[in-house]
Amino acid sequence: MRHLMSPLDFSVEELSKLFDLANEIEANPEKFSHVCAGKKLATLFYEPSTRTRLSFEAAMLNLGGSVLGFSSADSSSAAKGESVSDTIRIISGYADIAAIRHPKEGAPLVASLKSGIPVINAGDGGHQHPTQTLTDLLTIRSLKGRLDNMTIGICGDLKFGRTVHSLINALVRYPGIRFILISPEELRLPDYIREDVLRRNNQEFREEVRLEDALPELDLLYMTRVQKERFFNEEDYVRMKDFYILDREKMKLAPPDMLVLHPLPRVNEISVEVDDDPRAVYFKQAKYGVYVRMALILTLLEVKVC
Ligand code: NCD
Repeated sequence: MRHLMSPLDFSVEELSKLFDLANEIEANPEKFSHVCAGKKLATLFYEPSTRTRLSFEAAMLNLGGSVLGFSSADSSSAAKGESVSDTIRIISGYADIAAIRHPKEGAPLVASLKSGIPVINAGDGGHQHPTQTLTDLLTIRSLKGRLDNMTIGICGDLKFGRTVHSLINALVRYPGIRFILISPEELRLPDYIREDVLRRNNQEFREEVRLEDALPELDLLYMTRVQKERFFNEEDYVRMKDFYILDREKMKLAPPDMLVLHPLPRVNEISVEVDDDPRAVYFKQAKYGVYVRMALILTLLEVKVC
């Protein structure tokens, strides 16, 4: 039985097959519309979410399966003090696969050790968010035609942003990637990613504070929200929250084929006037999230579709 805790749980070859399957689903959704009939997905969300939970549920429904679950810790037995290990043991008797989001780093991993069904990490604290990374990679591969040889700017909250940590982990495996990490001093990448992932892999990268200093060089800009819920005090958040605002003026500095991605939700970091720019692909990206989760469910449940 296989779980998904980190994007590294799949090899580059396995990811490539997963993305082929996701593109096949996108091109021919009818073919897949009943392949999970009788199967159930449980979504155990101890932390708020719109896209991730609903895209998981849409993915399972699109495959002809059904869904059950909860969308906040207070509406589950966690409020009574039940551990994730006990909860997953119970859910293993009710469903065939589970997606877990939790504010504590490592909680989905703890659950997977006691689980009788495949467990997917749907985001654990400020740590990892592997299915967002699968979404990001599928978007890049589908729209750019490749995952290698690119200069990628990652901008915003690099300290607490779990989507950033997972994306960097995944991308260092592709040749010719150059990162420009754009953040205020206080929200720079944590050492465990800079040293253990970037330096250990001899990954080319540089750090910048000003977005304008990076934009002209980028093939891709990955914008992120300042992660309000991970701050220890409101004042720091308020000081940081509008540090970056990508607007039409700044987009003039970017190459004509640069893509702008964002895991969403967007707060102020991308002005709505950018939404109509053909380079802004974050709403398309959210759609790719459904296709890739469909492919992931099929892969973890070992459902073969001929
Ligand atoms: C991200 C997350 O939850 O980490 N959202 C998402 O799943 N698309 C990004 C964020 O909340 O900023």
